[in-house]
Amino acid sequence: MTGTVFVNGDWLEKDAATISVFDRGFLFADAVYEVVAVLDGRLVDFDAHLARLERSLNAIDLPLQRSRDEWLALFRGLVSRNAIDDGIAYVQVSRGPAVRDFAFPDNPTPTVVAFAAAKRISDSPLAESGIAVVTRPDIRWRRCDIKTVGLLGASMTKQAAIDSGADDAWFYDDLGITEGTSSNAYIVTADRELVTRQLGTDILAGITREVVLDVASREALTVVERVFSVDEAHAASEAFITSATTFVQPIVKIDDRTLGDGRPGPIVKKLRRSYIDRARELAL
Ligand code: PDD
Repeated sequence: MTGTVFVNGDWLEKDAATISVFDRGFLFADAVYEVVAVLDGRLVDFDAHLARLERSLNAIDLPLQRSRDEWLALFRGLVSRNAIDDGIAYVQVSRGPAVRDFAFPDNPTPTVVAFAAAKRISDSPLAESGIAVVTRPDIRWRRCDIKTVGLLGASMTKQAAIDSGADDAWFYDDLGITEGTSSNAYIVTADRELVTRQLGTDILAGITREVVLDVASREALTVVERVFSVDEAHAASEAFITSATTFVQPIVKIDDRTLGDGRPGPIVKKLRRSYIDRARELAL
């Protein structure tokens, strides 16, 4: 994480920034967030991320505090003040400090916190090697469509995946694969169909997902939004995840099954290139 952070309208050195012990984001995970990728110093899919932030805020009954231009200025401020070329900009809005009570406070004073971090996304070495995932039960809450900071289930599962020698995990529920710990999940079947779970309360509507499905359709791939099982994942010819922090990230191993020849497949490589080209062209 780099040096300058935003707290409720002030730009501060990160070590000087504080929020209340009684902040509901801290006590109840009563907060939502967004992560926007930064590519060549510009914001990727900014308006779609802002729209989702508004949806998340509405879902927890916390109205949006700022206009689109104010948010854009905030995000651009994060990028310029921290001299981010490739990386991420993060914004979190909580219901703010209040006497600890499970019911929402009557007149909340939301806390807005933002920071940025450098990260190699477009030239990540993992895009060349691919990653290994393990499948794990989806232990998260039942409103995964809301991008809340209640991420302990995801965090515990990612750590367990790493401890088992993999890079990350894919969650499954009674129906099949839901998504990754911080990404959407896809397979390419032997019939060259691109399959990813349909939107619902059990997954996050990824912004990268929306764009990648559009890119895939334009490239004449058959896109099918449906549940796929763990067995189908094991039998896939290719697999990948998408997120603002990885763009399109190839998977080469799922549990103990190596996919194809153990290297990123042609379809995922092409989708990654097309996604990054489009992101460079349209970033703000
Ligand atoms: N996570 N699903 C989950 C559970 C996620 O946490 C994320 C993103 C996604 C992908 O969404 P998008 O394409 O809009 O980034 C799907 C972010 C990157 C994070 O928490 O760091």
